[in-house]
Amino acid sequence: MKILVTGGCGFIGSNFIRYFLKSYPDYSLINVDKLTYAGNLENLSDLSHSPRYHFIRGDIADAPRIEELISKGVEAIVNFAAESHVDRSIEDPGAFMKTNVFGTFVLLEAVRKAFPKQRIRFLHISTDEVYGSLGETGAFTEETPLAPNSPYSASKTAADMLVRAYHHTYGIPAVITRCSNNYGPYQFPEKLIPLMISNAIEDKNLPIYGDGMHVRDWIYVEDHCRALDVVLHRGKEGEVYNVGGRSEKPNLTVAKTILDRLGKSHSLIRYVADRPGHDRRYAIDFSKIKRELGWKPSVSFEEGISLTVEWYQTHREWWKKIKTGEYLDYYKRMYQDR
Ligand code: NAD
Ligand code: DAU
Repeated sequence: MKILVTGGCGFIGSNFIRYFLKSYPDYSLINVDKLTYAGNLENLSDLSHSPRYHFIRGDIADAPRIEELISKGVEAIVNFAAESHVDRSIEDPGAFMKTNVFGTFVLLEAVRKAFPKQRIRFLHISTDEVYGSLGETGAFTEETPLAPNSPYSASKTAADMLVRAYHHTYGIPAVITRCSNNYGPYQFPEKLIPLMISNAIEDKNLPIYGDGMHVRDWIYVEDHCRALDVVLHRGKEGEVYNVGGRSEKPNLTVAKTILDRLGKSHSLIRYVADRPGHDRRYAIDFSKIKRELGWKPSVSFEEGISLTVEWYQTHREWWKKIKTGEYLDYYKRMYQDR
């Protein structure tokens, strides 16, 4: 199978490419990535000599480029490319609309123009954030009404609606996955877990928004990749599949667990002003993908966090290089005077 992966130089995309090349020795993957601040060629430097992996620097919103790429026998597109950080979307939503909404539209248009002569399966990587926020109980199912609360989640919701409409109207073979919070190797240190681990290693403060009792469901990135594998190959066209880690934790518990693993004091925790519009709780009902495709998460939070802490301990050069330049400016803007 020949797959066009978008955003493969980011966190989940790079894990997915490595996982897929290993799992399917006869597949070839083209990775088109714009290399924004979050895209890092080092995430896949070990694969640069593989004849089955091709990197192309490009923007998913560039229609001629995308049409040219898929004309070369592409059988599936896995769309990871996105602006992915909620805090950045609050600061400057424009890029989120361009990539997450318009970029997805460009990809869908390319698939539509090629269809039905060339039937390209479109796997769209969405998020549980499209469902909004939960109260004390319950979990998101695929039937939960969409109620996004941040510019990021609104842009992801718009993209989901475009995918739905293109399947419904033109019959293109599209599937959507909505996953909870991923963690693991190669995650950019603006997100909670890699930020907490790298700050703790450097004896810097761990900034916790609000009261720290906001709950996220954590999934180890390789479990997400396994879910994408079954949905890409066997998911029903036009359907949505929720993907979750069965690991709901308040942010404070996550921070304390990381400090304990590193043997650091809880006094590094610093409470800072809350994120505007901060969703209180996410939880995922993943019974549909379990029932229909036989997938369930296999890595417990305890196991996954140990693997992740160890990875960041042994890959200091990777994240230290990131925590310079633009990152430091971002960090100051985001956390100073908060
Ligand atoms: P990331 O920010 O680490 O990576 C995004 C990648 O997309 C980067 O390599 C970036 O250079 C690339 N990119 C951005 N704009 C582009 C454009 N216009 N054209 C081509 N490439 C572009 O993101 P991630 O955490 O790996 O998330 C990947 C996808 O999974 C996103 O769609 C995100 O919404 C979704 N998702 C993420 C999580 C999570 O916990 N991280 C959970 C559920 C869903
Ligand atoms: O749920 C899936 C989503 O998870 C994905 O769609 C997004 O792309 C991904 O970024 C993630 O969004 P969150 O906003 O949940 O992730 P983040 O790591 O930014 O924050 C996790 C929680 O930790 C959230 O409640 C905010 C809190 N937080 C975050 C940071 C960066 C803090 O308390 N302090 C921090 O410094």
